[in-house]
Amino acid sequence: MKIVHLPVLLEETLTYLAPDDSPSLLIDGTLGEGGHTEAFLTRYPQLSVIGLDADKNIQAKARKRLEPFGERMSFRNTFFDDFFATYGERERPDRILMDLGISVYHYEESERGFSFGKEETLDMRLNTEAGESAWDLVNSWPEKDLADIIYRYGEERYSRRIAGAICRRREETPIDRADDLADLIRGAVPSQARHGRTHAATKTFQALRIAVNGELDRLERVMVEAFRVLKPGGKLGFITFHSLEDRMVKNFFRDLDRNCLCPPDAFRCTCGDIHRGKLVTRKPVGPTEEEVKRNSPSRSAKLRVIEKLTDQEALS
Ligand SMILES: C[S@@+](CC[C@H](N)C(=O)[O-])C[C@H]1O[C@@H](n2cnc3c(N)ncnc32)[C@H](O)[C@@H]1O
Repeated sequence: MKIVHLPVLLEETLTYLAPDDSPSLLIDGTLGEGGHTEAFLTRYPQLSVIGLDADKNIQAKARKRLEPFGERMSFRNTFFDDFFATYGERERPDRILMDLGISVYHYEESERGFSFGKEETLDMRLNTEAGESAWDLVNSWPEKDLADIIYRYGEERYSRRIAGAICRRREETPIDRADDLADLIRGAVPSQARHGRTHAATKTFQALRIAVNGELDRLERVMVEAFRVLKPGGKLGFITFHSLEDRMVKNFFRDLDRNCLCPPDAFRCTCGDIHRGKLVTRKPVGPTEEEVKRNSPSRSAKLRVIEKLTDQEALS
């Protein structure tokens, strides 16, 4: 079995989310090929891990890789927000790690159209048994809705032109493959955008992937639910890869590390004035130059960690 994904910010994550000496539970909410988890299990023998992934194919790779750890490792094939919202495990976690986005496996091996250079069917779903695929969005969504997601989730300034070009093309023939869509986008943007450092379709592909998998809605939900489930004294870490995600995590953590959450003009405090979390990383932790050289996808990675102080909301 070939492992294609190198875990990002590995040493930093192992340090900031190091467990105490007593037996501890880590939930790896984005197990992928299991790179972070393998390193945690190896370094910390007192740790057991539950690994989640919405994609059963990549999870099959992790299962094989992590076999040597026996009962210290268990797996759930689920979206992370659903898992935490309906938490039913015997123990609550001491540590939670969320390494967001998709894996090198998805670009290189999944054959689901995540990469724009490839002759692959447009799909982009992590769970290929449910929900609309990128093909459905591109070939059936109204032009305005397409333009809106390309703008919001891709921060693409040419979103309207691109959505217009997609809709004109699909009137002639469906857009089936990732490379066809990428060529179409390249032809739709002004020439200066065609010759930049990144491919002209990069932002649109990011937007489609985020929309197909409900990434930002799931992130919004999992931040609240994972923090609720975490043991008091426990730590929650997020690794993000773009500004939309990072802003959400930064704001959520900042609010947890404040006492009163009432608006400044509130007549009196109604929020309970409880200090719920303490920032462990005041600034996001990024990769070293050496890591970026060795593993270029790490260049935009940011790690933020918070410690839970009180159990304000009981588990239902
Ligand atoms: C960046 S990779 C994780 C890589 C992993 N840390 C490693 O070292 O191998 C993110 C993984 O999370 C999964 N994933 C993304 N969003 C998810 C979600 N909402 N629920 C569950 N899994 C998700 C993806 O399928 C992917 O395998």
